[in-house]
Amino acid sequence: MNMLKALFQLLLVFCIQASSANDWPKFDLTRTDQLKALNAQAIDISHDPVYSSAKKYQAYALADILSQLSITGDQDAADWVIVFTARDGYKVAMSYKDALSEPGFIAFKDLAAGSDNWQPFQFGKKTITPEPYYLVWPKAGLDKWQYPWPFQLTSIALEPASSYYGKAAPANIKNADVKKGFVLFSRYCIRCHSVNLAGGSVGPELNIPKNISEYFQENELSGFIRNASTYRAGTQMPSFENLLSVHDTQLIIDYLKQKKLEKDP
Ligand code: HEC
Repeated sequence: MNMLKALFQLLLVFCIQASSANDWPKFDLTRTDQLKALNAQAIDISHDPVYSSAKKYQAYALADILSQLSITGDQDAADWVIVFTARDGYKVAMSYKDALSEPGFIAFKDLAAGSDNWQPFQFGKKTITPEPYYLVWPKAGLDKWQYPWPFQLTSIALEPASSYYGKAAPANIKNADVKKGFVLFSRYCIRCHSVNLAGGSVGPELNIPKNISEYFQENELSGFIRNASTYRAGTQMPSFENLLSVHDTQLIIDYLKQKKLEKDP
């Protein structure tokens, strides 16, 4: 009996998750009828980070896909993220506002690959291709954290940042610095660190049970975040010195300190 009850509850949880995930506007890249209505074009990439070389792709403009996904009411684009989902379920999010500000493309064919559509590349120990869809940015020198290059994509969805990041999102967004700090944290940190157990697990959780500001000397925090290797030899945390100013890290710290008041494991 108890087992049945547990099973039922589990099913219920799955149903709730499935229905809330489906509520957000989504473009299914596997539905070719939707794609065929768009204009394909050849684009040049001078600096493809996956192949470390110049590339030419056949692609659809991301803006054309986004124009089919509209956000409801008078909501601010800055409060939404675009969620790119790959074939294996891996998700990458970026700010909707950023995506509207730079021309991105959804590539579906490598023009040097002949009839195969794609050329293979080394990914860890595997040899894979970006098939079926790959997000690329023709403008050289864009920040790859802000403008990610995910591949093997199957869908593109719009979702409020507060929903996608869940309990890591600040409940108090009246404070402009906390809000800006969270934008930076979600761009550079959340893929490795969780806050209130929401986020990545490569690095440590930063709020539960103790907030980082409760045991880490605050005047050292900014230095650590900008360049962890000057504190710990062999650290796995990348350097953010060239991407984040001292002011930026202070905004991230403002956000993290706000979460001390919003502990919710
Ligand atoms: C690629 C993964 C990765 C990213 C991205 C990353 N970190 Fe880390 N971080 C780690 C790892 C791993 C550790 C812990 C061990 C170490 O020092 O290598 C760590 C440690 C920390 C610590 C010290 C925690 C403690 O209790 O010792 C803080 C604070 C921190 N990171 C904040 C940040 C912030 C803020 C960002 C975004 C600007 C960020 N990290 C981005 C991987 C990451």
